[in-house]
Amino acid sequence: MNKIFVLNGPNLNLLGIREPHIYGHTTLKDVENLCAKTCKDHGLEMDFRQTNHEGVLVDWFHEAREKKIAGIVINPAAYTMTSVALLDATKSISPLPVIEIHISHVHQREEFRQKSWISYGVKATLCGFGIHGYALAIAGLAEMTKAKG
Ligand code: DQA
Repeated sequence: MNKIFVLNGPNLNLLGIREPHIYGHTTLKDVENLCAKTCKDHGLEMDFRQTNHEGVLVDWFHEAREKKIAGIVINPAAYTMTSVALLDATKSISPLPVIEIHISHVHQREEFRQKSWISYGVKATLCGFGIHGYALAIAGLAEMTKAKG
């Protein structure tokens, strides 16, 4: 299976409007277009989704396992700091690779943003590259899935 999921957590539907001094002026649609192009360049198919609901993200992880998706790129947004359920979901689909991405440089922000539960279960974490981080995460995931054959 050559398909990946690119998942987005709460409030990312407001990208471009929400705190643009931190997250920039590009919209989630722009991110989707960037991801679609990057996936195409790497010979991957993509399913791009956003939800404001924690359990929906958990369900999508289970769906990825059932459908034998090659890997997941996720920006868990605020659920990064709160969701043990997402960490457990990540572990429950192991060895399916999950890459965590954040648009902003979370380690230069408030202290509460620096604790990521999901980090314990992911293959890699990227932050601070702006929306370009999504492209870098997809490129990294493509390398991982290629290496696996
Ligand atoms: C974020 C960083 C999180 O701390 C925050 O809650 C978000 C977005 C980012 O992409 O920089 O919603 O994940």
